[in-house]
Parts: sequence; C-alpha cells; structure tokens
Amino acid sequence: MLLETVGLTKRFGGVTAVDRVDLGIAQGRALGLIGPNGAGKTTLVNLISGVVPADGGTIRLSGSDVTGRPAHRLAALGIARTFQGVRVFRGLTVEDNVLIGRHTRTRSDALARLIPRPRSAIDADRARALSLIDRVGLGRRRAEVLAGELPYGDQRRLEIARALASEPLLLILDEPAAGMNPTESAGLRALIGSLLVEGLTILLIEHDVRLVMDTCQRVAVLNFGRKIADDVPAGIQRDPVVREAYLGTEAVA
Ligand SMILES: Nc1ncnc2c1ncn2[C@@H]1O[C@H](COP(=O)(O)OP(=O)(O)OP(=O)(O)O)[C@@H](O)[C@H]1O
Ligand SMILES: [Mg+2]
Repeated sequence: MLLETVGLTKRFGGVTAVDRVDLGIAQGRALGLIGPNGAGKTTLVNLISGVVPADGGTIRLSGSDVTGRPAHRLAALGIARTFQGVRVFRGLTVEDNVLIGRHTRTRSDALARLIPRPRSAIDADRARALSLIDRVGLGRRRAEVLAGELPYGDQRRLEIARALASEPLLLILDEPAAGMNPTESAGLRALIGSLLVEGLTILLIEHDVRLVMDTCQRVAVLNFGRKIADDVPAGIQRDPVVREAYLGTEAVA
C-alpha cells in the first residue's frame, strides 16, 4: 500500500468528523472517496495531508509511520493535494503559481538559499511548468495571466498543475470537478486516466459519482465520519447500505 490509515480519528468538539477510518490505496491506483455532505471526506484528507492533527490512529506512507508530521513535511515526502475551495495565489501569474508547487520539492534550507540556482535549472523548471499548464488544459498562452483572472474551472485546473509540479507520489483531489462544465470535467477524466497510466496514485473526492466510478479502481464511502463501504465500483453501486446513506440526497447511479 502506498498510503494506509488505521483507526484514523478526528473530533471537533462533540462531532466525530472522522471516526476510526481504515483506508488503503495501492501504488498506481485511484481510490474514490464519496459520501453525503458533512460525511468527513475533507477532514480525512486534511488529516492525511497534515493540515490538521489526528486525535487517534495511524497514517503510513510507503510503509513508514508519518502520523503527526506537519503538512510541509508530508508535501516533501510526496503528498500533494488540491483544496475544495480553490486556493490559488490570485495576484500571481499562472506560471508562478505552478512554480510555487515545484518548490515544495526543491531544497529550501538556509544553505540552498545562499547558493544561486544555475540558469539551466531555472529554465528547466519553467519548461516543466509550461508543460504542466498545457497538460491540465489551460494552454501555455495563458502562462502570464494572473490566476485571479481565470474562470473558476480553470483555477481548479491550475491547482492540479501546481500539485503535480511537486512530482508527488500521491495526488489528492478534493472535488476537482465542482464548478467545471461537462467539457472541462471530460478533460479532467482524461487527465486522471493519463496520470494513472504514468503510475501516479490518486485519492479522488467527488460528488460527481459517475466520474468516480469511471476513474477509480476502488471506492470508499463515508457517512457521519464512519467508513460504511469499501469495494470495487460495481460493488458500491449495488450496496444497500450505501444507497440508504444517499437516500434523499443523490443517487449512486
Ligand atoms: N474546523 C472545523 N471545526 C469544527 N467542525 C468542523 C471543522 N471542519 C469540519 N467540521 C465538521 O466535521 C464534519 C465533517 O466535515 P467535512 O468538511 O470533513 O465533510 P465533507 O464530507 O468534506 O463534506 P462536503 O461534501 O460538504 O465537502 C462536519 O460536521 C463539519 O461541520
Ligand atoms: Mg468536503
């Protein structure tokens, strides 16, 4: 397993947002994470990416216990994510937003800051940033546009480019298709497929259940912080417990 959680738990006051969740994602696979609003999906991702500390349980990355590591350490170890509410640097260009993602992987200790990076390394970073901007479908012509001027769907794609710039082992996407039109979400589906072919491991939170079923080899379902199902997509679709959890909200079609 590239990522494994055992008994992961997070409480906010009286609410147990994530309740003893066991999760595993095999290297090179995509795990879909679905569940009704407030089920604990984002909190679970916040725990895995070190944004909030766990109250209990264990997180293992490639077999190593990384529980309690802060977000920047986990980023350096290869966990990259996007946020449910887009977080781009609105006053910076598209290209600079992607370059910032790159820096989670480049050396940033005091010594590294004293030694100027060679021109060739800077050019290589820029070339990589431009190719990522293309890859997520933004088009390198917009590299110099301010991120805040992009339409919402494009800001979401920019976040993915920034996450990919760190060359992660695990890419976590929190509702990437929200605010995307059908053409954009078809592009997202193709992008996820091509990333998997290259061996990336993906955790995908999405309300677009179709997108999850089409792109993920396994799907876990959260409800009130508990994992209520974990199966291949076909198994999830016919699971009566899952159908019950979604009743009155949306169909797992
Ligand atoms: N910082 C916080 N402080 C207090 N309660 C929180 C906090 N973050 C989340 N919660 C609560 O934890 C529960 C899980 O929320 P979370 O955002 O993880 O759900 P979600 O599955 O991502 O929902 P959605 O589909 O709406 O994004 C909710 O009851 C929420 O109100
Ligand atoms: Mg959420």
